[in-house]
Amino acid sequence: SAARSASFEGGGRRAGEFPLVRPRRLRTTAAMRRMVAETRLHPADLILPAFVREGSSEPTPINAMPGVVQHTRDTLRKAAAEAVAAGVGGIMLFGLPLVKDAVGSQGTDPEGILQRAIRDVKAEVGDDLVVMSDLCLDEYTDHGHCGVLDARGRVDNDATLERYAEMARVQADAGVDVVGASGMMDGQVRVIREALDAAGHQEVSVLAYTAKYASAFYGPFREAVNSSLKGDRKTYQQDPANAREAMRELALDLAEGADMVMVKPALPYLDILRQVADAVDVPVAAYQISGEYAMVEAAAANGWIDRDAAIMETLLGVRRAGAGMVLTYWATEVAVRLRGA
Ligand code: PBG
Repeated sequence: SAARSASFEGGGRRAGEFPLVRPRRLRTTAAMRRMVAETRLHPADLILPAFVREGSSEPTPINAMPGVVQHTRDTLRKAAAEAVAAGVGGIMLFGLPLVKDAVGSQGTDPEGILQRAIRDVKAEVGDDLVVMSDLCLDEYTDHGHCGVLDARGRVDNDATLERYAEMARVQADAGVDVVGASGMMDGQVRVIREALDAAGHQEVSVLAYTAKYASAFYGPFREAVNSSLKGDRKTYQQDPANAREAMRELALDLAEGADMVMVKPALPYLDILRQVADAVDVPVAAYQISGEYAMVEAAAANGWIDRDAAIMETLLGVRRAGAGMVLTYWATEVAVRLRGA
């Protein structure tokens, strides 16, 4: 209208027609945005999950996780050294035995692949990297479940706890700094803590996978550990529909002596992460799992998203939601990038 265009004459602006407060001022330059950023990524917050395969002489690519391999003992040591050089905070080790059986014997054999890998990595990195190990039976059982089965084929909670206690002892004997209790058995943190203490491993920490959901996004991991699982883990991992249940698991894990707690997967569970982070005073981790990795890599391979920007955005989102530490298969790559930034 004539009246409206008149107000623009000579650049004159009528009071009240334009914003006095302009949030865009704080977005004007990269330096300004960097200065006012509330959340930052730092290499030490990142933890690299790594797979080591028994008896292999070459690393084996994982089809569903382009860029991630099943390491040989030798290439695992190299990957650990690279993580140290990049300033990564920790490494989470998963062992892939040649032989699996009903009770996951290789998980408690002092010469089992994970125990050897722990010794290898500790010898390589000393105390320059926090060395963590997955404390769960699914990599070692021929049926692929995270525990042992009863006569009717159901996962037997309390019989599994006895296996976990033994796993904790052998992993700690091998020199691990932190055990990752990922099996979602009731009472696992207490049994693991007691087993560690009874064996004189008071200094070994327990990272409790507190809220671990029965997720479709574990798909690529099943290939990564050559899992023979048929069916699902819905009788022990949490239902994606539930949030309050996570707070109950959290209270139990803290009461049982967890040193650190984790939410897993990460991106579909940012609400849980925020609730957990607000509720506790222990360090909180999130696990950006195999399927989260695969989604970004697949879209990027098709040219559908900007890979590097998407990676940083997912990590920032997870940190912003309350995770102090993030397990991510991109840990070393991102740490190198952050160092260069
Ligand atoms: C249990 C374990 C799993 C993952 C980490 N620890 C598998 C599962 O619970 O099904 C998944 C990690 C990922 O998908 O990246 N040993």
